[in-house]
Amino acid sequence: MARGLKHLFTLDPSVTFLNHGSYGACPRPVIAAQRAWQDALERQPVAFMDPRHLRERFEDVRNALAGELGARAQDLFWSTNATEALNLVARSLPLGPGDEILTSDHEYAALDKTWDFVCRRTGAALRRVTVSLPLCSEAELTTAILDGVSDRTRVLFLSHVTSPTALALPIARVVAEARARGIITVIDGAHGPGLIPLALDALGADFYAGNCHKWLMAPKGAGFLHVRDEAKRWLAPGVISHGWAPDLAPGDPGPLGDDAFLDAFQFRGTRDASAWLSVTAALAFRQDQNWPKIGDDCRSLALATARMIAGSYGQVLPGADEFLTQMVAIPIPPCDPLRLHDALLAEDGIEVPVIRWRDKCFVRLSVQGYNTPEEVDRLARVLARRFPPRRHARIRLPSGS
Ligand SMILES: Cc1ncc(COP(=O)(O)O)c(C=O)c1O
Repeated sequence: MARGLKHLFTLDPSVTFLNHGSYGACPRPVIAAQRAWQDALERQPVAFMDPRHLRERFEDVRNALAGELGARAQDLFWSTNATEALNLVARSLPLGPGDEILTSDHEYAALDKTWDFVCRRTGAALRRVTVSLPLCSEAELTTAILDGVSDRTRVLFLSHVTSPTALALPIARVVAEARARGIITVIDGAHGPGLIPLALDALGADFYAGNCHKWLMAPKGAGFLHVRDEAKRWLAPGVISHGWAPDLAPGDPGPLGDDAFLDAFQFRGTRDASAWLSVTAALAFRQDQNWPKIGDDCRSLALATARMIAGSYGQVLPGADEFLTQMVAIPIPPCDPLRLHDALLAEDGIEVPVIRWRDKCFVRLSVQGYNTPEEVDRLARVLARRFPPRRHARIRLPSGS
């Protein structure tokens, strides 16, 4: 583990912060870059917001990010966050009564609500299939999902990295199979960028929404939507502004001088784009610090600790190593999640999410470069004190559910 990186972040030193996963944490040089963008905006708002200039700044970010995502810069645009991007997709799709949206039982609760909303409006139905734990192979996932496909399935919606169970789902085959059957594929990649290697062009999902403010460590409010060329026709702008032109197709020159698709989606009225513009600074920070190596070390520590804690309760981790990252959901004995979270923070100074998923409880440990092995060890010791392993060794949560 790299040490001495804490000073690069503004996190409260009195808190053992083991929850990078929820909102990320932004390094000081990236915060400084964002402030510089905000200063530039306030110095000459008119020149700064002029689409002729702003368009070029957006393009710089798209070009830099496209390399990280394995994507083409013209297929992605800024969204404040993954929720916003996925709402745009869900509310655009041509759904009607009898249609089905196929998804898993590992999805982020807010997006379950998004689809619920869309179903109520369109008459479509959400079909949720069970993906059992532990996930041991890509074939298990592919089979579980494809078994849920029917002649009514119009959309497949899956997380790339799941929120409650922190699994990096091996989605390549199931995306390809779904597309081959004419199903629109929508991927929630909120945790993807910076946490797992991405190759969005090769993946070929119709829509992939992601965040740069989690694991890429950009400022909050830097999300994106990546849209496959052929899927662009399905997307309807949520906000109509100067960039919209009804008779232009993606690829045509747009009214603001960019591709018509980008003009329609990346200009949505007056907004503070500083978080998005700072994505380049976040990418540079990661490169300067050799963050991929730091991430690998974090993952090793997270997995070793998670295995040790889970093992002390006779439990296994939610998936095979290849599906686990530096954010791991560690099974613990049954508890009241909110009360445990609050007690860990108030009494032990540890910020870590406690999650109930089906009949299981997890502590979702994130290890990031600013964490030390001592902090991670503290979590293990505090959990052992609160749930003495001997007392709980016999309490086995039902497996395979
Ligand atoms: C799987 C998943 N999807 C979506 C989100 C929402 O991200 P945001 O609030 O940035 O839109 C989260 C947040 O943690 C998540 O874990």
